[in-house]
Amino acid sequence: MCGIVGAVAQRDIVGVLTEGLRRLEYRGYDSCGVAVLQHGAPRRVRSIERVANLAEQVEDARLSGTIGVAHTRWATHGAPITDNAHPIFSRDEIALVHNGIIENHEPLRDELKALGYAFESDTDTEVIAHLIHHTREEDASRDLLTAVQRALQRLRGAYAIAVFAKSEPDRVIGARAGSPLVVGMGERGNYLASDAMALSGTAEHFIFLEEGDIAVLSCNGVHIVDRDGATAHREVQAQHANHYATELGPYRHYMQKEIFEQPDVVADATERVRSITPALFGAKAQRAFSEIDSLLLLACGTSYYSALTAKYWFESIAGIPTQVEIASEYRYRESVVNPCAMVVVVSQSGETADTLAALKHAQEIGHHHTLAICNVPHSSMMRLTELHYSTGAGPEIGVASTKAFTTQLVALFVLALTLGKERGRVSTDDEAHALRQLHHLPAALNSVLALEPQIVAWAQALARKDHALFLGRGVHYPIALEGALKLKEISYVHAEAYPAGELKHGPLAIVTNEMPVITIAPNDTLLEKLKSNMQEVRARGGQLYVLADAGTKIESSDGVRVIQLPGHYGPLSPILHVVPLQLLAYHTACVRGTDVDKPRNLAKSVTVE
Ligand code: G6P
Repeated sequence: MCGIVGAVAQRDIVGVLTEGLRRLEYRGYDSCGVAVLQHGAPRRVRSIERVANLAEQVEDARLSGTIGVAHTRWATHGAPITDNAHPIFSRDEIALVHNGIIENHEPLRDELKALGYAFESDTDTEVIAHLIHHTREEDASRDLLTAVQRALQRLRGAYAIAVFAKSEPDRVIGARAGSPLVVGMGERGNYLASDAMALSGTAEHFIFLEEGDIAVLSCNGVHIVDRDGATAHREVQAQHANHYATELGPYRHYMQKEIFEQPDVVADATERVRSITPALFGAKAQRAFSEIDSLLLLACGTSYYSALTAKYWFESIAGIPTQVEIASEYRYRESVVNPCAMVVVVSQSGETADTLAALKHAQEIGHHHTLAICNVPHSSMMRLTELHYSTGAGPEIGVASTKAFTTQLVALFVLALTLGKERGRVSTDDEAHALRQLHHLPAALNSVLALEPQIVAWAQALARKDHALFLGRGVHYPIALEGALKLKEISYVHAEAYPAGELKHGPLAIVTNEMPVITIAPNDTLLEKLKSNMQEVRARGGQLYVLADAGTKIESSDGVRVIQLPGHYGPLSPILHVVPLQLLAYHTACVRGTDVDKPRNLAKSVTVE
């Protein structure tokens, strides 16, 4: 979703802006642009193509300057056309980029039109640019910071902005309320970005702005004021060394790279769990865990499916009642608050607007105990919750989440064990056994990844289909949901997942010999039930594609294709079974020639509602 970069330096910053945008491409966008102050006037280049194309246009236009802002836009208000691309100008004085949604843009637009402002775009963003311009005109000091402060007070909604003014050629101002923004400090300049990764190699130190903060950047320093206008001193963090490179290396796509990184990231994630203790979740966890009687998990997308999977673990291992809810639903419904329920938000980015709003809503209505399970350590969710657990998968660039999902599952499993141990349901032997299983996971994942050639063959067949069904039972039902989501997201094959027992209550009606039915068949207590469901499919001609554990005695036959996985992996089996489904979606998308890492209409980090 929208990405922001801003820069002020003692050198030309155009390269920093375009490189920053390139690194934000993974968030998803449909247009992009750069503006700099050149020869005393704002100049911009905008494109409805990729950042690489923008960079060429920028070079052709000989754009250069020492202050500037840049943007990747994921359209919300107004189609993805050049006129709606950011930076947005106001009367050739103000240049502004924005991430988020301004809810009261309509009355503000009418007001500004009445004041004589001509609107050139359909965006809500243009309102902010003109409002800052107008507020500044009204103020005798003509100070950009004062104008930004006053203008922002009139906005309702979520935003992060970066702005500069023609008549203040030495500073760029950034502000956040609801959307992420980080300040990067380097030797020869200071920078702004939606995500620290955009500035890696450019800035050595970072400040993660708090809600309501406004940052004034000049070459000489960074001054931050809080929402009340008081100078704020925020913690300066050194750049975190991350050994998971953000470059593609030998892989064709980031998604493929991230699928194959899973044994390593899971090894890192399990390595730090040498024993099961509440301290893994923060200093306050011991007390918090003793005060709760249930869990309420909130998440979106793939993270929602990891939460759904974990519900089975929480109830079977820890015996703790667990509710899982889609964040965008929870935040708007009247729910019955149990103050003894711990709210657990699960998110790769820690910035997803609906999950963040659901968390705030839960806190407002009386949930005291909150835990974030996130992949981005300094994210908003990690900073808003009482307890935190960093999943440590490293940067995930592909829009379709893979390694973030498996590491979330590891974290949630560790949480289930911890709560089980605290509640006297996990013995020392159980703990030792579970830890052995966790530590052996990377090897098990490697043996599943070795199945890739067989999955490529399935993908060839699946790529010719328009629809697919995914079946699973028990803890593997959410894995079927995740498999269907992956296929939809990146290959655009319509896919639905069902608990296999539900087949006869509807989906069987669409099963013909044209319908591929991808079935997850672990060697668990539900196997015989699942085999009956598979018979129901075959009896209607459905084409079964079965991921079967060793020992299930499910063999390939007419209309039944089987890929055999290693032996059943106990409660952690979902972590192994999801990997062939990731590979299946990936290879199907490759055969269909889609843009795997940037699927149409989707964004990596959904920072607007
Ligand atoms: C977007 C991404 C998904 C992700 C979901 C939730 O839709 O494309 O891959 O699962 O957001 O994101 P989060 O960062 O909260 O896990």
